[in-house]
Amino acid sequence: MSVVILGIESSCDDTSAAVIVDGCLKSNVIAGQKVHEAYGGVVPELASRAHQQNIVPVVSEALTQAGVDKKDLSAIAFTRGPGLLGSLLVGTSFAKGMAVGLDIPLVDVNHLHAHVLSHFIRKNEDDEVPGFPFMCLLVSGGNSQIVVADSPFKMEIIGKTIDDAAGEAFDKCAKVMGLPYPGGPHIDRLAAQGNPAAFKFSKPHIPGLDYSFSGLKTSFLYTLRDNLKTDPDFIEKNKADLAASLQATIIEILLDKLGKAVKENPVKDLAIGGGVSANSGVREAVAEFCRRRGIRAWIPERAFTTDNAAMVAAAGYFKYLSNQFCDLSLPPYSRVTL
Ligand code: KG4
Repeated sequence: MSVVILGIESSCDDTSAAVIVDGCLKSNVIAGQKVHEAYGGVVPELASRAHQQNIVPVVSEALTQAGVDKKDLSAIAFTRGPGLLGSLLVGTSFAKGMAVGLDIPLVDVNHLHAHVLSHFIRKNEDDEVPGFPFMCLLVSGGNSQIVVADSPFKMEIIGKTIDDAAGEAFDKCAKVMGLPYPGGPHIDRLAAQGNPAAFKFSKPHIPGLDYSFSGLKTSFLYTLRDNLKTDPDFIEKNKADLAASLQATIIEILLDKLGKAVKENPVKDLAIGGGVSANSGVREAVAEFCRRRGIRAWIPERAFTTDNAAMVAAAGYFKYLSNQFCDLSLPPYSRVTL
């Protein structure tokens, strides 16, 4: 009999459902929430309400696209945390209700584990996947971590940000340039037309494998403030160069610590994950970094970099196969890391 997993993701502002049959992805439906654009960031209360509106049609559509009847499901995997509590409650409650109704097991998934395991989303049985142990640079709006995955269940964070995440650095700098939220994709687009060496911004000098992006943010802000004093059109005239220089600095910061990490923890496979791994410059730089060191690079499809239920179903499939089910009384959590 086939193993059919329904994955549900609702940790932030994307409602997503996906179906995996015997390890292969059959559908991955994502409903974004435009309502936050006007506020320059995700408004938690509005996110929960939008999840309530989206969850039933998104799950139905995922089942329809997969050609699967709900009675065929073996288990439901859902994101239990970390994330916005109100958002997580919608997915968690829905998953519990559906599992009880269908009398099937429930599998709780850590959102960050799911990002790391997004490289195990197979479309075909013979699709290649990383070998354990592998290293993953996990860079999103909320996290910047270097993770060593020893198995689907055992992951260690060997470096993390002590202040802002890389995605926050993209978004906050984009905001002061007057770009819409989230700014990361806009910086990426503008950077393609700019000179990455046009401006120099400060880089952190902290020991070990930890990251810091707050100094860069301040340095970027001061550059704009100082130049705007003499030229009110400074941002408009230089937006491509500013974006390219900002992106180049973020990439240098990321790769500097990654270089130390692979020296201290040699690995054959290196992956990237999280929203910032959609960035063209990050993707190229990591591919080149790996090529120079003879490491296999795992660059995810863009659809699997930002929040999606395919990665939740993939992580849930691993847990299902090893009988790791969760109790119906478990609450979601907002903060736990890996
Ligand atoms: O993983 P994600 O969807 O959400 C969480 O934080 O959990 O990541 C969102 C982040 C935002 O900061 C967004 O600006 C950034 O990923 N991002 C990008 C790009 N696409 C998304 N940053 C730079 N370049 C991109 N192309």
